[in-house]
Amino acid sequence: MFQSESPDMLSSRRVRPGRTPSPVIRITHWIGAASMLVMIGSGWQIYNASPILPFEFPPWATLGGWLGGGIAWHFAAMWVLMAAGVVYLGYGALSGHFRRDLRPAGPRAVGRDVAQALRFRLSHTAGHYNAVQRLLYTGVLIVALLTVASGLSIWKPVQLGWLTWLFGGYDIARRIHFAMMTLIVAFLVIHIVLALLVPQTLFGMIFGRRPPAASQETVR
Ligand code: HEM
Repeated sequence: MFQSESPDMLSSRRVRPGRTPSPVIRITHWIGAASMLVMIGSGWQIYNASPILPFEFPPWATLGGWLGGGIAWHFAAMWVLMAAGVVYLGYGALSGHFRRDLRPAGPRAVGRDVAQALRFRLSHTAGHYNAVQRLLYTGVLIVALLTVASGLSIWKPVQLGWLTWLFGGYDIARRIHFAMMTLIVAFLVIHIVLALLVPQTLFGMIFGRRPPAASQETVR
């Protein structure tokens, strides 16, 4: 849910309400992002102990130092990620944030915004996610859910046998888990580049308000 700025702030800057994500969204986003990074680094450490592809991740990109350390980090971060995820999803659904701000746009709007984005012409309006952002955010939330579910299925393949079965068995579930991690890393690269290209959004996601200099409704 986006918060509106006070009328005083708005009239002095001649802008339409430049809203920023609410505290719950911001706090759960950053806790989730930090735990996701820990899960990726420790996951790479665990992968290196038994690679399924003909490569290993470089040690500097891994977390935990050895298999046992990687597993300890991976599970510690998993609980943090799940807690933040439950609060984020619950709040997003109950407050109407998902319906209002993240509901995917129609194919025509997506096509138009993708074309503009590829030509670096996609404008960004404060407090409003464009069709590309809505698609990416909804997509990564679904991918994150699949990552957690496939991870649980390879962690407890006996107790959660039905889940492992749903993913097509242990070996396929492990590959799905790896593929979902790859999609999250790809999302992260695009997401961080976009956040750096439009630093006002980064400021808003950290501080919950627009930066003092951002007086335009739309920034390119
Ligand atoms: C670690 C580096 C990250 C940075 C710098 C970052 C930055 C941001 C920023 C600036 C926004 C607000 C965009 C706007 O207002 O236009 C945002 C929103 C979002 N980010 Fe990230 N993010 C990071 C990691 C992640 C990760 C790991 C995920 C999930 C896998 C993620 C998922 C999302 C989602 C779903 C939103 C929309 C939140 C909502 O309004 O409900 N981010 N991020």
